[in-house]
Amino acid sequence: MSARAPRIVLLGASGQVGWELARSLQPLGEVRALGRHEADFTDPSGLAARVAREAPAIIVNAAAYTAVDQAEKEASLAMRVNGESPGALATAARGAGALLIHYSTDYVFAGTGTRAWQNTDPVDPQNVYGQSKLAGEQAIAQAGGDWLVFRTSWVYAARGKNFVRTMLKLGAERDTLRVVADQIGAPTSARLIADATAQALAVAMAERRNGRFKSEIHHLCAAGHTSWHGFAQKLFERWQALAPQSPLALRALEAIPSTDYPTPARRPLNSRLDCTRFEERFGLALPAWEQGLECVLQELAETLSAR
Ligand SMILES: NC(=O)c1ccc[n+]([C@@H]2O[C@H](COP(=O)([O-])OP(=O)(O)OC[C@H]3O[C@@H](n4cnc5c(N)ncnc54)[C@H](OP(=O)(O)O)[C@@H]3O)[C@@H](O)[C@H]2O)c1
Repeated sequence: MSARAPRIVLLGASGQVGWELARSLQPLGEVRALGRHEADFTDPSGLAARVAREAPAIIVNAAAYTAVDQAEKEASLAMRVNGESPGALATAARGAGALLIHYSTDYVFAGTGTRAWQNTDPVDPQNVYGQSKLAGEQAIAQAGGDWLVFRTSWVYAARGKNFVRTMLKLGAERDTLRVVADQIGAPTSARLIADATAQALAVAMAERRNGRFKSEIHHLCAAGHTSWHGFAQKLFERWQALAPQSPLALRALEAIPSTDYPTPARRPLNSRLDCTRFEERFGLALPAWEQGLECVLQELAETLSAR
């Protein structure tokens, strides 16, 4: 990397998306990943001061409080991590003349109807996590400066805590699983988010050089949509083909309504996100959700056969 390579501060590198970003951002600059012990989101001003010391050209924030149900009991912690700290980061970014990339969620929407949400549609989060992520979006916009917020949905990866890994574990142990079939969204691999972010970042840097950059919220998720039940069906079907050495105990996958699976946090039924504006601005065509699933299952199957 040349001496003039832009310095990129990456936050949340131990998470699903952050892990993939640590790889995908490499060609764009000198990546400096700050972990929780160095940059703690429970301390917004300490975080901002620590990041400013790096004199970054770009800040990519993949850190967040993501325990959706737990957030109902830890509202002030979720607000500090997801609401206040992103605002403090945005202020630090503006002070350093840096571009801030931040992630938000489909949970900022009410989840009504069946139409895909546009990035300009009115928001109305139904749970504390969604409220805290919305507070983050608003704090960033209020801080000013150059920023991009990418709302994504139903994130999974070959590592971390996610639906795919939970299903594979349960499918190996139980003969029946009941999975919610009335929440609709796009399962999105962390790798897709990271790769699309890197591409978008390259475009955004050129826009800044040309004085054509605009701070904006975008939707970034895989193409197509399904229910959690449809997602589970596809992942078990493909897992059987990709990892025959790892047989499933599962015999029945039942489709149930959300009302039969009550959780502390209320989930939106319609999580479809319209990503057209993202694709147009950054010149990308987001692939179908099944493609990302195939890659992650292949990675998991290869890990298994390497044991
Ligand atoms: N997961 C989803 O389904 C989903 C859906 C829509 C949007 N999103 C958004 O996408 C982004 C990435 O999510 P993800 O799934 O990759 O998250 P994740 O796997 O849960 O990782 C969260 C990251 O945040 C860090 N973190 C948490 N609390 C922190 C604190 N107090 N100080 C510093 N770091 C802290 C974690 O560090 P430790 O390893 O130290 O805990 C970890 O690196 C987030 O903005 C999330 O809100 C996620």
